[in-house]
Amino acid sequence: MSVIRSTVLGCGSYLPERVLTNAELATMVDTSDEWIVQRTGICQRHIAAEGEVTSDLAVAAAKAALENAGIDAQDIDTIILATATPDNTFPSAAVTVQEKLGITHGAAFDVHAVCSGFVYAMTTADAYLKTGLSKRCLVIGAETFSRILDWEDRTTCVLFGDGAGAVVLEAQEGEGTLADRGILTAHLRSDGRHKDKLYVDGGPSSTKTVGFLRMEGKEVFKHAVGMITDVIVDAYAATGITSDDLDWFVPHQANKRIIDASAKKLGIAPEKVVTTVQLHGNTSAGSIPLALDTAVRDGRIKKGDLVMLEAMGGGFTWGSVLLRW
Ligand code: UT7
Repeated sequence: MSVIRSTVLGCGSYLPERVLTNAELATMVDTSDEWIVQRTGICQRHIAAEGEVTSDLAVAAAKAALENAGIDAQDIDTIILATATPDNTFPSAAVTVQEKLGITHGAAFDVHAVCSGFVYAMTTADAYLKTGLSKRCLVIGAETFSRILDWEDRTTCVLFGDGAGAVVLEAQEGEGTLADRGILTAHLRSDGRHKDKLYVDGGPSSTKTVGFLRMEGKEVFKHAVGMITDVIVDAYAATGITSDDLDWFVPHQANKRIIDASAKKLGIAPEKVVTTVQLHGNTSAGSIPLALDTAVRDGRIKKGDLVMLEAMGGGFTWGSVLLRW
């Protein structure tokens, strides 16, 4: 049976030039390289320059993805940008990206699901492509979390970084089997009862300010592994695949302990896990496409490989996307 598959044409990413090491952070708050590495696996993160905004990071990643895909920006008809740190409350950062890419046709909008933003955006793009609303979709995850961190709060400021990644998806015909390239299944979940465990303490309608990120880290950690593994098991149930069939596991990069524990619980071999948290920190919606692009460019992920993406974050929101690269 012929079906539409949302197929990856290319990917790209961008990291701001400035690197902030754990050693430098230890001069700013009461922390140490040893504590950060032991509890999170993070060694460094990138920080956007003054005046460098989320749409700038997104455009740089998008241009790299378009080049990698070998297509022109004018061939894109939909831009979906996952971010919790847009340039302004409105318009969406996606329309600024659209303008910076010189595109005046089609639609552009932001998706807001914090760290799960990229899997939400991929799933939204998949629905657009499958229903014929879009033919070629630029999906971006971009964040400047450095702007919403309380740099005096050591429990949060050591964890996050800035960065962006993007993929170009195209509607292509598939056979309807698991051998098809493209998105094979996607599963999204949320549970607003947990919204106060990871949030920003400001907003246009509440405080009229932007606010700072607040997190009950232990509480988030407690739920993360169970939620991540649940949506991956959903993907296994929908397709009949198992951990052994996966070529690559590309998780959201929040904490190496969460990544390792999830892979272990699912029986995914450590050599199949793509980990970039040590170099990027947690870049929220940017983390998965940054990790994907890293593994594509260093030659690990190749055309035809079976790749599992997953994320969990504020809301709580969580989800998985299984695709054949
Ligand atoms: O993207 C999704 C959202 N985020 C996450 O997934 C993050 C989830 N949570 C985590 O990754 C972990 O909970 C953290 C890395 C945030 C914290 O690790 P933990 O093992 O849960 O540590 P903890 O919060 O229990 O803190 C242990 C100790 C505390 O001291 P006491 O109370 O034992 O004396 C903290 O005050 O470590 C202290 N601490 C620090 N010490 C040095 C907290 N932050 C720091 C720090 N440097 N930066």
